[in-house]
Amino acid sequence: MCGIVGYIGQQEATPILIEGLRSLEYRGYDSAGVAVFKDGLNLVKAKGRLANLEEKLVDNASTGLMGIGHTRWATHGEPSDVNSHPHMNESNTIALVHNGIIENYLSLKDELEFEGYTFLSETDTEVGLMLVDYYYNQVGNLLDAVIMATDRIEGSYALAVVCKDDPTQIIATRKDSPLIIGLGNGENFVASDIPAILKYTRDIYLLEDAEIAVVTKDGVTILNEKKEVINRDIFKVTWDIAAAEKGGYEHFMLKEIFEQPKVIKDTLIPRLPLNQDVIELDQIKLSKKELANINKIYIIACGTAFYSGFVGKYLIERISRIPVVAETASEFRYREPIIDKNTLLIVVSQSGETADTVAALRMGKKAGAHVIGVVNVVGSTIAREATEVLYTWAGPEIAVASTKAYSAQLCAMYLISTKIAMELGEITDEEFSEIKEELYSLPSKVESILQQADYIKSLANKYINMKNVFYIGRGMDFAVAMEGALKIKEIAYLHAEPYAAGELKHGPIALIEKGSLLVGLVAQEELFDKTVSNIKEVKSRGASILAIALEGNTEIEKVADDVIYVPSTHWMFTSVLENIPQQLFAYYIACGLGHDVDKPRNLAKSVTVE
Ligand code: AGP
Repeated sequence: MCGIVGYIGQQEATPILIEGLRSLEYRGYDSAGVAVFKDGLNLVKAKGRLANLEEKLVDNASTGLMGIGHTRWATHGEPSDVNSHPHMNESNTIALVHNGIIENYLSLKDELEFEGYTFLSETDTEVGLMLVDYYYNQVGNLLDAVIMATDRIEGSYALAVVCKDDPTQIIATRKDSPLIIGLGNGENFVASDIPAILKYTRDIYLLEDAEIAVVTKDGVTILNEKKEVINRDIFKVTWDIAAAEKGGYEHFMLKEIFEQPKVIKDTLIPRLPLNQDVIELDQIKLSKKELANINKIYIIACGTAFYSGFVGKYLIERISRIPVVAETASEFRYREPIIDKNTLLIVVSQSGETADTVAALRMGKKAGAHVIGVVNVVGSTIAREATEVLYTWAGPEIAVASTKAYSAQLCAMYLISTKIAMELGEITDEEFSEIKEELYSLPSKVESILQQADYIKSLANKYINMKNVFYIGRGMDFAVAMEGALKIKEIAYLHAEPYAAGELKHGPIALIEKGSLLVGLVAQEELFDKTVSNIKEVKSRGASILAIALEGNTEIEKVADDVIYVPSTHWMFTSVLENIPQQLFAYYIACGLGHDVDKPRNLAKSVTVE
């Protein structure tokens, strides 16, 4: 997720671009840049926070009444000056900024290199820029060049493009990434989000997928793919800046919960080419030859990341038959675990900076293990020090309580476990086709669960005064129960206990009394009856029962006081679905209790100390 700003009008562009980028830093902040037109396109960009760009501009600022700017959340290519946007073609005639993921950038790059193009950066964006340049050299006008280029691009994009040969316009277009047009008087704006332009106008056009906007200082024309003019109503923004940064949601946490369908799509689909029966884990091979030497896998992480790794343990062991130990990094690093060159160490971390997880990685590498980092922040310590990296592409996660990053981590576990099983011949082609089809369906299934938000909110209000909460499940349901309990603890500050359902009768059931709430996760259908019998034991001792079950399994209604149904899916993927109600349940309880949901007490987003 990146920040895009464009300006064309009668004021100096640079201050407006910088101001706009500052309001978009929550969308990405590992590098930034501007390209402003004055007798030519003047490009200034810098790694790091926006302040670094401002410092560079002190001696390099360009006057000019038109320009584009970008603040980056790296996906392809770590944070650096050369990887930052805007990207410019060799003749310095076209500059482009992008938010999204160009899934077919490698094949397009091969084509362009064959045509003689050379690339300075590791980014997919530069490929998009050179594609525009390639077509511009054929047709001689920017609008057609952008249309021809985006016809070739697979994936998601929001683009703002300018050309030295015609500085009277900015071309803006989008697919799956947001882009808006701000309407001023003798000036107009392009932005990836409303906060960037609220200071200047509340009148905007919301660009739809595959539409192209030709933005001049005196007007905006919106075209469809056939270049037919579209009449678009003006949307009047009523939010203040703070609300706009949250996309109109009350908290970043709720915004990030609702971003999950796109996050899951962004993390999964680029690794599951539509017309090939393969899983592409970027530069990760996990080949049969490599796996032949692996006799143990550790999945090591902290907090929520650990709970995603625990799901990975169940999956990898069950479908690839390699022993897997999932463990918290703070325990793993001090118990002298048995690690050697036949060990695969998978470390999971949203921030890529968690001290215990970094220490576990270094210990594993020192002992000769092959280390895969599952990381959300490009260029983070874990991303740089792991042998190989699988990025979770969840975008910046602002809320301290992890939601979309956890779902993206689960998707990484789905991909890794399936890849290993495929390489070891543990799943047939037919089974892979079924798995792939189901993975493609997950974003829409998550979307359908989010539509139950009001119902889940009513349940939160019903149970808000519960004395204590137990989250129980068996197998992967238990792994997800641990995440559900953590969410209630960290934002509602309520004591919540995750327990393997079969363990309750060995002591913890003594805690059950009237006023207790038990959240029973029963999505693992083969374990359904066993877990239901545990739920009955708890119900008979006075607890209220809230169950999370697969649609169609109405048997659960005989024992539960309330049920949240999630769409049925392949047994491997129930975790990402059954966790969505847990996130919303905890969120609404915390709101009902009046807590600071985005910044809960005692917690930090990244625990970089031991
Ligand atoms: C999860 O909601 C918490 N914010 C916390 O448990 C977090 O998952 C843990 O600190 C690990 O962080 P990381 O993923 O950045 O390594």
